[in-house]
Amino acid sequence: MTKKLFVKTYGCQMNVYDSARMADVLAPLGYGPGETPEDADMVILNTCHIREKASEKVFSELGRLRQIKADKDGGLIIAVAGCVAQAEGEEILRRAPFVDIVLGPQTYHRLPEMVAQAARAGGAVLDTEFPIEPKFDFLPDARADGPAAFLSVQEGCDKFCTFCVVPYTRGGEYSRPAPAILAEARKLADQGVVEITLLGQNVNGWHGDGKSFGWLIRQVAKIDGIERIRFTTSHPRDMDDDLIAAHGEVSKLMPFLHLPVQAGSNRMLEAMNRRHDRDFYFGLVEKLRAARPDLALSSDFIVGFPGETDADFADTLDLVRQVGFVQTYSFKYSSRPGTPAAGMPHQVDEAVKEARLAELMDLLQDQTNRFNAHCLGLEMAVVLDRVGKHPGQMIGRSPYMQPVHVDNVAHLAGKLVNVRISEIHPRSLRGEVIHSERIRA
Ligand code: 5AD
Ligand code: SF4
Repeated sequence: MTKKLFVKTYGCQMNVYDSARMADVLAPLGYGPGETPEDADMVILNTCHIREKASEKVFSELGRLRQIKADKDGGLIIAVAGCVAQAEGEEILRRAPFVDIVLGPQTYHRLPEMVAQAARAGGAVLDTEFPIEPKFDFLPDARADGPAAFLSVQEGCDKFCTFCVVPYTRGGEYSRPAPAILAEARKLADQGVVEITLLGQNVNGWHGDGKSFGWLIRQVAKIDGIERIRFTTSHPRDMDDDLIAAHGEVSKLMPFLHLPVQAGSNRMLEAMNRRHDRDFYFGLVEKLRAARPDLALSSDFIVGFPGETDADFADTLDLVRQVGFVQTYSFKYSSRPGTPAAGMPHQVDEAVKEARLAELMDLLQDQTNRFNAHCLGLEMAVVLDRVGKHPGQMIGRSPYMQPVHVDNVAHLAGKLVNVRISEIHPRSLRGEVIHSERIRA
C-alpha cells in the first residue's frame, strides 16, 4: 500500500458497511488505511441525510478539509459519498468546488474509475445514478476486521414514511440474492468472524429468490464458525410469523430486536404513513415474547411530528410503559426537504419538541437502567471485539447489545467468552471471564 485513505462515516450501520467496502474497492489502487485527513492522500466523507444536523456537519467538515487540501498544495482527493451526496450532489459542488468526487450509495463500485477520471480531467466527477447493475456484483470479497462483521443483504425502502428521506436517497427496495449473501457469510467465517449482523434499511423485507428473511437467517445459522446472528433495521409490517418463530428456534439468533415504532398515537402513526397502529405493535411484541421470553426490545422514536398534541405524546409514553425497551434512539422531528411531512401544517415548536424529548428520554433511560440492574450477577456470552481504554481491557457486546468491559483479557481479544456481570454503570456493564474456552452464545 503506497497511499493512504481516510474515511469518515456518519449515520447508520449501512454507512459503516459501505465505508468498509469503499476501502476494499480502493485497495487494489494502492490505498491503505490512514489515521487522519492530514496524513491521507484521499478522504471520503460517507454522509447521512436523515436529519438536518447530520448534513450540516458535512459542510462544516468540508470547510476543514479545504484548508488541509490547500496546505498540501492540492495533493488530496476529496470525495463526498452517501446520502447527502445523493440528495445534494450539485449543491455540494457549488458550495465546495474543491471537492473532487461526489458519489451516491449505489455507485461506489465505480470509485476506481472516478479517481482516474478526476486525476485526468482535473475537474469534479459527479455520479449519483441508480445504475441497473447492482454494485454488489462488482465489489471485491469483503475483508473481515475483527470477530464481528456487518453484511448488507437488502437496501432501499418502499415504505415512504412521510418524514423520511431514505426512499429518495437509497432508492427502492433491493434484495441481494441468497447465494451471494451466504458466500459472503462463509468468507467472513473463514476469516474468523463469529458474529454477523445482517443489514438493510428494511432488512426483514428481504425477499431474495422468493424466500423469506426467516429462511435466510436459518441458512446463515448453518454456517460453521458463525455463532451469533443479529439483524437491523426491521419494520413492524414485515415481521412475519416465520421470522417470529426463528427467534425461538434459532439459538444463534440473539435475543435482541431493534423494531422502530416511532410513536404511540394512532393518529400520528397514520400521518407518518407507518402502515401499522399501536395494537398491531403490541400484538407483535406479544408474539415475539411468546417465541423468545428473554427478548430485549429496542426502538426509534420521533417526537414533535407535525400535528402532535400533548395527548398524542402521552400515547407514546404509554406505549413505552407497556412494552418496556432496553436501548433506544429518540429524535426531535426534523423537517426534510422533499418529504411529505415537510409541507404538513401544525409544525411543532422547537421548545415543545425539546421538552417532550427530555421527558421521553428520562422514561427510556429508567427502563434501560432497570434492565441493566437486573443483569447484575448473570452469566453472559460476550465477543471481545474492541480494545478498551485501560491496558489489557477489552470491550464486547452482551447478547442484549449492552457494552461489557472486561479487564486483563488482551490474550482473549477476538474471542467469544463467558462473562459474569459484576458491575453496572450508566452506559455499560463490567464483567469477569468465567470460562475462556469458546462457548455457544
Ligand atoms: N426527523 C427525525 N427523525 C427521523 N428519523 C428518520 N427521519 C427523521 C426525521 N425527518 C429517525 C427515525 C428512524 C431513524 C433512523 O431516524 O426514528 O427510525
Ligand atoms: Fe424511512 Fe420508514 Fe423506510 Fe424506515 S421504513 S427507511 S423510516 S421510509
